[in-house]
Amino acid sequence: MGSRRICSAVASLLLLWLGVAAAQGTSSWKTLSGGAPAIIAKGGFSGIFPDSSEYAYQFAMIASSPDTILYCDVRLTKDGLGVCLPDIKMDNCTNIADFYAQGKKSYLVNGVSTTGWFSVDYNGTELSQVSLKQAIYSRTPRFDPSFFPLLAVEDVSSKFNPPGLWLNIQHDSFYSQFNMSMRKYVLSVSKRVIVDYISSPEASFLTSLTGRLSNTTKLVFRFLDEAALEPSTNQTYGSMLTNLTFVKTFASGILVPKKYIWPVSADNYLEPYTSIVDDAHKAGLEIYAADFANDVVLSYNHSYDPLAESLSYIDNGVFSVDGILTDFPVTPSMAVGCFSNLNKSNTDHGKPLIISHNGASGDYPGCTDLAYQKAVDDGADVIDCPVQVTKDGIPICMGSINLMDGTTVGKSSFASQTAVIKDIESVVGVFTFNLTWDEMVNSLKPKISAPFFSTFGLDRNPRYRNSGNFMRLSDFLDFSKDKDLSGIMISVEHAAFMAEELGFDVVDAVIKALDISGYHNQTAQKVMIQSTNSSVLEKFKQQTKYDLVYMVNEDVRDVAASSLDDIKKFAVAVSVDTSSVFPANHQFTTNATNLVQSLQKAGLSVYAYTLMNEFISQPYDFFSDATAQINAYARGIGVNGLITDFPATARRYKSNSCMNMGKKTPNFMAPAHPGDLLQIISKPAQPPALAPAPLLTEADVSEPPLPAARLINGSTAPAPSSTCRMQTRAPVLVALAMLCACLLL
Ligand SMILES: *[C@@H]1O[C@H](CO)[C@@H](O)[C@H](O)[C@H]1NC(C)=O
Ligand SMILES: *[C@@H]1O[C@H](CO)[C@@H](O)[C@H](O)[C@H]1NC(C)=O
Ligand SMILES: *[C@@H]1O[C@H](CO)[C@@H](O)[C@H](O)[C@H]1NC(C)=O
Ligand SMILES: *[C@@H]1O[C@H](CO)[C@@H](O)[C@H](O)[C@H]1NC(C)=O
Ligand SMILES: *[C@@H]1O[C@H](CO)[C@@H](O)[C@H](O)[C@H]1NC(C)=O
Ligand SMILES: *[C@@H]1O[C@H](CO)[C@@H](O)[C@H](O)[C@H]1NC(C)=O
Ligand SMILES: *[C@@H]1O[C@H](CO)[C@@H](O)[C@H](O)[C@H]1NC(C)=O
Ligand SMILES: *[C@@H]1O[C@H](CO)[C@@H](O)[C@H](O)[C@H]1NC(C)=O
Ligand SMILES: *[C@@H]1O[C@H](CO)[C@@H](O)[C@H](O)[C@H]1NC(C)=O
Ligand SMILES: *[C@@H]1O[C@H](CO)[C@@H](O)[C@H](O)[C@H]1NC(C)=O
Ligand SMILES: *[C@@H]1O[C@H](CO)[C@@H](O)[C@H](O)[C@H]1NC(C)=O
Ligand SMILES: *[C@@H]1O[C@H](CO)[C@@H](O)[C@H](O)[C@H]1NC(C)=O
Repeated sequence: MGSRRICSAVASLLLLWLGVAAAQGTSSWKTLSGGAPAIIAKGGFSGIFPDSSEYAYQFAMIASSPDTILYCDVRLTKDGLGVCLPDIKMDNCTNIADFYAQGKKSYLVNGVSTTGWFSVDYNGTELSQVSLKQAIYSRTPRFDPSFFPLLAVEDVSSKFNPPGLWLNIQHDSFYSQFNMSMRKYVLSVSKRVIVDYISSPEASFLTSLTGRLSNTTKLVFRFLDEAALEPSTNQTYGSMLTNLTFVKTFASGILVPKKYIWPVSADNYLEPYTSIVDDAHKAGLEIYAADFANDVVLSYNHSYDPLAESLSYIDNGVFSVDGILTDFPVTPSMAVGCFSNLNKSNTDHGKPLIISHNGASGDYPGCTDLAYQKAVDDGADVIDCPVQVTKDGIPICMGSINLMDGTTVGKSSFASQTAVIKDIESVVGVFTFNLTWDEMVNSLKPKISAPFFSTFGLDRNPRYRNSGNFMRLSDFLDFSKDKDLSGIMISVEHAAFMAEELGFDVVDAVIKALDISGYHNQTAQKVMIQSTNSSVLEKFKQQTKYDLVYMVNEDVRDVAASSLDDIKKFAVAVSVDTSSVFPANHQFTTNATNLVQSLQKAGLSVYAYTLMNEFISQPYDFFSDATAQINAYARGIGVNGLITDFPATARRYKSNSCMNMGKKTPNFMAPAHPGDLLQIISKPAQPPALAPAPLLTEADVSEPPLPAARLINGSTAPAPSSTCRMQTRAPVLVALAMLCACLLL
């Protein structure tokens, strides 16, 4: 019964994921055979569904490249049946404890006494009630209430008809304690099903199979930790690595942990690649890399971008592994099929526009010279400056008006000057307008943003945590002016507060700074002004011809027709939160709203904010892969722009080779359909439905006009140096700057 429902749910998914084109392998690969690297789905699509379950295998066949190889960790039952189970202990990956509460046993596994539930203690009938479940606690357990019977190797072959089947035989010597022979099992099962690969970390086991199987079955020697002992030779795997010609006597390939190829330092940065791929190929061995998963902390060099990681193993210009073993097969599918051998000099400023969020703030402290340079290097179309003001009236670029967010002020001598300013936010802060520019530069350092650190421990580029220099608006404009950008975006918030409490006219200051930098005459680069407050945009509209962007800072499901007319009076584009486009319930998207379409129909461009690479920021529907998420916004919804902390990922997306394939778009590049995963959760395990977000109404949009800057102590704005760029590089410039300041006073 349960199984029939599974099938129909999966079949309906199959219909949604139409598209059949195979991975393109036109140019030659640096693999041993010269063919495209293989994609091997570990226990199926085990990043989403329980490892080795029917859903996992079926979904791999639907969502991944059509030539994906299905991988099964084979364990034997008491009656000699081979079943797929990710762990020799069934404790966590099945619900066996619910059926055999007293079934725990202790056995030697590779010489180590191990306690738990073992498949050898039960026959197939006894295990027929047992269900697989999610064994990795950071992954969703919501599919677990569905019944996932253990699958025999024969089932995997007959039910999913995979283009390749890979059997991993991890513990031959363990089974021999029970007088069971994995060798006999493998020889017998390979008469019933086509087995394409057999891997094992035991050299003697593979040796015993050489010459006994069809010549199309590849034997693969699996390397474990370098320090671990290989049971049959009593050498460490590390030392066996130096004797690959020996390995070649019993295997045609090797399977290695990915860190054998790209070692990682103790603080999680990539070290130079080793020679192992080259060594293996020279010895005539194929080499497969293991341990790929998207929902873990990747090396910081990959900026939480699992596609970048896959590409570093197959498309780095020097070598390519022969296959990738992964829990998320869609990622290497995209890497092989759409992202390899790209022409990287091919930059265009077309849709979707890539707009940085505080520069490349995923990699360097936001709004610093480093973050802006990286954004430009990474191919952002537009770089952004959120304008704040210092005590001495200098407009600066800073992600937040509260210095606690993006600087080390909390550890400085200004840390005690905290206050709550309820017009701004309810949390305690030290604010940009409480320090002069000199005080900021001399006493504070920038601080990298890390939105998922306190809750999930996900840090960003810690070696550069406090690097880079602060930027004034004038510095930013000097920097952006001669770059190959389609434009700049300046965000203005708290304008009314600045006018009334600080006597600072931020709109005027921004316009003057742009004028001085020559942007008033610029035609090559567009100037965009973004604000959540329509009164700010109205004021810019009266005085300039810049492109005005209205940012909606609440979750909405659509926009009321009456407010559309209002918005069009002062804006040409609207920025909307990602969750207003794809609302999510417990990290599962529920639906796509009509918001983007409504805005676009009215002639407004739509930008989605804020895209981040960290898998925690993404609903499960995007497979913990920022590229799949971008694809859903760009191709699925058709937004005009993406506001992102990681412009490199968006730029790579825009240059993929599967952009204009129409109906021939490969299945793995078809945008995710919101709500699909949620639908296949069994009813009792579904999260309670969410109330729909409200409409954006006229009342939300219209605001009273901005107040004039108040006179403070008998004068207006604190200091007009806002429009006078202070240069300290040469005495002449200092003198000029002082003259300028005097003239303005
Ligand atoms: C199984 O789960 C327990 C926690 O319940 C954990 O301590 C243990 O490491 C897990 N075992 C495996 C093999 O994952
Ligand atoms: C499986 O074990 C049960 C006892 O638990 C026994 O009754 C049954 O005959 C066994 N089935 C097979 C196929 O050996
Ligand atoms: C395995 O076979 C040997 C020899 O036939 C026998 O002595 C031993 O008891 C058997 N062990 C098990 C666990 O059945
Ligand atoms: C495998 O064996 C068959 C016949 O036994 C032979 O025709 C074929 O060429 C062999 N293939 C390889 C790759 O050796
Ligand atoms: C295996 O090698 C280790 C040292 O590498 C040695 O201490 C041990 O006795 C060896 N065991 C066997 C069974 O040869
Ligand atoms: C490689 O291994 C084989 C088999 O163990 C051994 O005979 C040979 O000496 C080894 N070669 C080297 C260079 O260690
Ligand atoms: C990884 O990043 C660190 C820090 O930026 C850098 O020193 C290192 O060279 C990078 N590793 C590789 C392989 O590029
Ligand atoms: C890459 O693209 C650029 C710009 O479109 C073009 O000039 C260049 O010829 C391309 N290079 C290759 C190798 O295709
Ligand atoms: C910060 O600036 C505001 C506005 O000028 C002022 O009211 C407040 O007293 C200042 N706070 C500190 C701690 O200097
Ligand atoms: C800007 O344009 C105006 C009018 O077209 C012109 O008079 C002025 O010299 C230009 N300024 C700069 C800095 O190019
Ligand atoms: C999804 O959106 C469509 C159109 O906006 C709406 O008709 C439908 O009721 C929504 N479904 C859910 C589950 O929210
Ligand atoms: C928008 O600005 C107006 C002044 O023009 C101010 O009265 C209002 O409170 C601001 N709205 C928000 C939501 O901050």
